[in-house]
Amino acid sequence: MIPDEIREQARKLRDRINYHSYRYYVLDDPVIADGEYDRLFRRLLELERQYPELVTPDSPSRRVGGRPLARFEEVRHAYPMLSLDNIFDVAEVFEFEEKLRRYLKSSAPIVYIAEPKMDGLAVELMYEDGIFTVGSTRGDGLVGENITPQLKTVQDIPLKLQGDEKTFPTQLIVRGEVYLDRAGFVKLNRQREESGEPLFANPRNAAAGSLRQLDPKVTAARSLRFFVYAVADTDTVACSCQSELFTLLAVLGFAVNPHIKLCSGPAEVEARYHHLLALREGLPYEIDGMVIKVDDFSLQKRLGNTARAPRWAVAWKFPAVQATTRIEGVDFQVGRTGAVTPVALLHPVNVEGVVVRRATLHNQDEIERKDLRIGDTVLIQRAGDVIPEVVKPIVEKRTGREKPIVFPTTCPVCGHPLVRPGGEAVTRCVNPHCPAQRLRSLIYFAAKSGMDIEGLGKKAVQQLIDKGLVRDIPDFFRLKKDDLARLPGWGEKSAENVVAALAKAKQTTLARFLGALGIRYVGEVTAELVAGHFKSLEAVMKASREELLAVEGIGEQVADSLLDYFADPSTRNMIEQLLAEGLTILPPAMGEQPLAGRVFLFTGTLKSMGRNEAKQIVKELGAQVVSGLSKRVTDLVAGEKAGGKLKKAKERGIYVVSEDEFLKIIGRT
Ligand code: IVH
Repeated sequence: MIPDEIREQARKLRDRINYHSYRYYVLDDPVIADGEYDRLFRRLLELERQYPELVTPDSPSRRVGGRPLARFEEVRHAYPMLSLDNIFDVAEVFEFEEKLRRYLKSSAPIVYIAEPKMDGLAVELMYEDGIFTVGSTRGDGLVGENITPQLKTVQDIPLKLQGDEKTFPTQLIVRGEVYLDRAGFVKLNRQREESGEPLFANPRNAAAGSLRQLDPKVTAARSLRFFVYAVADTDTVACSCQSELFTLLAVLGFAVNPHIKLCSGPAEVEARYHHLLALREGLPYEIDGMVIKVDDFSLQKRLGNTARAPRWAVAWKFPAVQATTRIEGVDFQVGRTGAVTPVALLHPVNVEGVVVRRATLHNQDEIERKDLRIGDTVLIQRAGDVIPEVVKPIVEKRTGREKPIVFPTTCPVCGHPLVRPGGEAVTRCVNPHCPAQRLRSLIYFAAKSGMDIEGLGKKAVQQLIDKGLVRDIPDFFRLKKDDLARLPGWGEKSAENVVAALAKAKQTTLARFLGALGIRYVGEVTAELVAGHFKSLEAVMKASREELLAVEGIGEQVADSLLDYFADPSTRNMIEQLLAEGLTILPPAMGEQPLAGRVFLFTGTLKSMGRNEAKQIVKELGAQVVSGLSKRVTDLVAGEKAGGKLKKAKERGIYVVSEDEFLKIIGRT
């Protein structure tokens, strides 16, 4: 039994230490000397050593890092962690506002909040009854990794919320950015240099590498920091806007970036951008742009999200950083779709902390338009995560010894003649059996953004092809543990893991599967749209051009590409084989779908919301939306000035819904 007064003493120590580290790290305004703080800390460690049962999850002793983990557990986010759409100039700020206006059907002024865009790593922190319980990475947005012990080492993440315990929400999920400041980055790389370890290219990679350490003690030594920028569910806080939320989060003990500001319209947003751009170099951490959010939560709710990003926010990125170097050669890469991309091999150059060795030259026209030659000194630029590109040659530096870049006429991998269809900029290898394309498609299928088969990265896939174990997608699922274990560099364990990962990947969702196939123009987001609409693989395979075009967000290019893909007998054959190997497409995620099976058509103008908003709402409730009258329509929503469609619908006896009834159906009255 621990004596009550000891228990009490430990509690007081914990609270005092937590408070003082908040003063020191979050407020940058300590009220006790470092020596005094150390004394408190040692006293607590001593007590916890004597009475290990005293250790609580919010004990500051947890910040030094506990035992290493065997692996990271998965954490499913209660609300997806979305990304942000990017904009690059002021005209796009005005377009953003225009879009908001159209969607909201309102010309009322919109208040924005402008925040520095931190260049770190998004994380989610769960607080239960005021205590930090689970912290995770963004992962793929839906499922992340549990990095709670690592996050506890981040000094400005509160282990316990501040203030009146009785008013803490039972569950609060906050989100923000973990980052490494410039000083921490320099220090870390200096240490690595001394110990002969490879250097981190930039603070962002260093922060990511430090958080994803199974041993939290390593993380603890890296002086990571945290700024909060959101809550997962704005209904859990008594705030009506983002600016109020920041006030609340600061009161609860979180570090809020000091350069956040309300802006009353695009002009103020623009002024703020230039202000932050001027601040940028002098800040103790890296920022790569400014995030613009609609301040008002009720507007945010009405605007909602797309599959990828909220409609109520955008990131205005800072301009790219540039450098000069020399083109030493050109490599021609054959991609998944046969497209041949010229890549400049550069004399290595450091661009704002990142060593750049290669830059894309896009295509033949670009090379000609920019008049690039081998041996040229060139200006290159890097913007965020995108592949560096060559901007232009520095003509004054030419010596006369530069050589022209000659585009190959045959595929550098299979030797098949290359073609360049009229009107297209891309040169392609059209040999369907080209090993480069096969390799790339198989890599794409197994990759994290595809079927996410752990252990089957680029190198492994290449090896499986080289050894003749895999020729096509179904072959993956025929791999046997013993075949794998025999390969050079493999063992029993790694073989077993891959076989298990494959078995797991067999149970998949329609969206993931469609995305992994590498159908032209069908990336992750489009795959989500298609899957959300058709719900089953058979339905996608059977869909007509018209049906495909009826899916919001799908244009002719995508529709034709899907049609071509599924019309190909080899696709059908492959899918049959996959199903025979046990591929199972799980039913779409549950969630309230009270309108499932109903097909809505809108006509006329609604008073209470824009048409896009209305469409989005019914879709989220499980209904389908079409744009033309047909037998399938179950509900015709008629707003003001409804015209021909209404008349026809009445003639055909289709159920006509007034705006008031519609609001009742969607639960908005
Ligand atoms: S809001 C749903 N605010 O930018 C809204 N994000 O490109 C998403 N980021 O993954 C986040 N600073 O890691 C928001 N002040 C800020 C941010 C910020 C940096 C990052 C975040 C996110 C990425 C989106």
